[in-house]
Amino acid sequence: MTDAVPAASSTPAPTPRPAPGPDVAPAGGSPADSLLVRAATGRPGPRPPVWFMRQAGRSLPEYRKVREGVGMLESCRRPDLVTEITLQPVRRHGVDAAIFFSDIVVPLAAVGIDLDIVAGTGPVVAEPIRTRADLDRLPELDAAAVPDIAESVRLLVAELGPTPLIGFAGAPFTLASYLVEGGPSKTHARTKALMHGDPQLWSDLCARLAQIAGAFLRVQIEAGASAVQLFDSWAGFLSRRDYERHVQAHSASVLASVAELGVPRIHFGVGTSELLEPMTAAGADVIGVDYRTSLAGAIDRVAGVGAPAVQGNLDPALLFAPWEVVDAQVRRIVSEGRGASGHVVNLGHGVLPDTDPDVLTRVVELVRSLEV
Ligand code: CP3
Repeated sequence: MTDAVPAASSTPAPTPRPAPGPDVAPAGGSPADSLLVRAATGRPGPRPPVWFMRQAGRSLPEYRKVREGVGMLESCRRPDLVTEITLQPVRRHGVDAAIFFSDIVVPLAAVGIDLDIVAGTGPVVAEPIRTRADLDRLPELDAAAVPDIAESVRLLVAELGPTPLIGFAGAPFTLASYLVEGGPSKTHARTKALMHGDPQLWSDLCARLAQIAGAFLRVQIEAGASAVQLFDSWAGFLSRRDYERHVQAHSASVLASVAELGVPRIHFGVGTSELLEPMTAAGADVIGVDYRTSLAGAIDRVAGVGAPAVQGNLDPALLFAPWEVVDAQVRRIVSEGRGASGHVVNLGHGVLPDTDPDVLTRVVELVRSLEV
């Protein structure tokens, strides 16, 4: 079979970014005026905002306590737990944004896919999707299937006041990888075999996943999320050619589907230095920079692709190094970020589970002290 599917092969036009509004000051009165939303829309405040991917989770003893005896998927569907877990890192670290406590596979479970999130492993799918008949078992997501998600977001927005809530979804490629492989994979071999062996089925699967991801983001935004992040965690396993031919248009479609809602969109992947330009061209307002990629270099590279704001990119492993090392790296990242249209300080991937949470708090304090 040939390997190109026309619909996914051309570079999409970037979707419109929210227009920069008047420079409202002081920052912090409402989520829309927050440092996060300002940086993400190219109106940086006196210092960059800081939050951490996986800031809620196993690094926090209070998280481990409330999760005792409650399965991961179940905890994602209980508004009382979602609210508590999402707020924990905001209370403890004073981060500038909350990230909604959920998982990228929650909308897949909501449309009826039989899956579990296994501790220490990740999502495991009972019957993988590999044929046209399998795809028929993956319906579109209707907001009515996730009333608890909207409820959790509403509760959180009321609690958070001026602190913005970031909603999220998994991007089509990363979701497809879990569905096709049946679980986490080190090679993504079956996923790539499907992409190349049956490009039409691959394209149809990704189009369905784009609908599901877009609908999941829309539910969160309409309930009050102030920004969203699209996680394409495993896109870095693709060549640039395969990304451009088989993946980019589907991620672009997710981002475009929520553009009219007017909240900034962050687009993140791991090991994606090679994909930085095509991921940026998919149309987000903020491009996530993983920890292997130079932040200053990334800022130069995306300047030619609409100059989005950047997010990143402290290596999560460095949080285990002596404080002087962390201090120097955070200062360097903040300084390099001043060359961007906006910069959101974050790790270059999620918090590792055995990270000392006090180091995260110190990073927040340090960033807060770096006002100009
Ligand atoms: O704090 C936050 O960042 C918000 C919550 C969040 C979770 N998953 C909670 C979670 C977010 C944004 C995600 C997204 C997610 N889930 C991604 C993309 C982000 C990334 O890290 O690249 C991916 C690839 C998944 C799939 C998934 N779910 C994995 C790989 C794992 C870890 C498996 C393990 O136990 O090591 C999960 C489970 C998961 N999702 C946990 C959390 C807090 C751990 C569950 C536990 O506490 O046992």
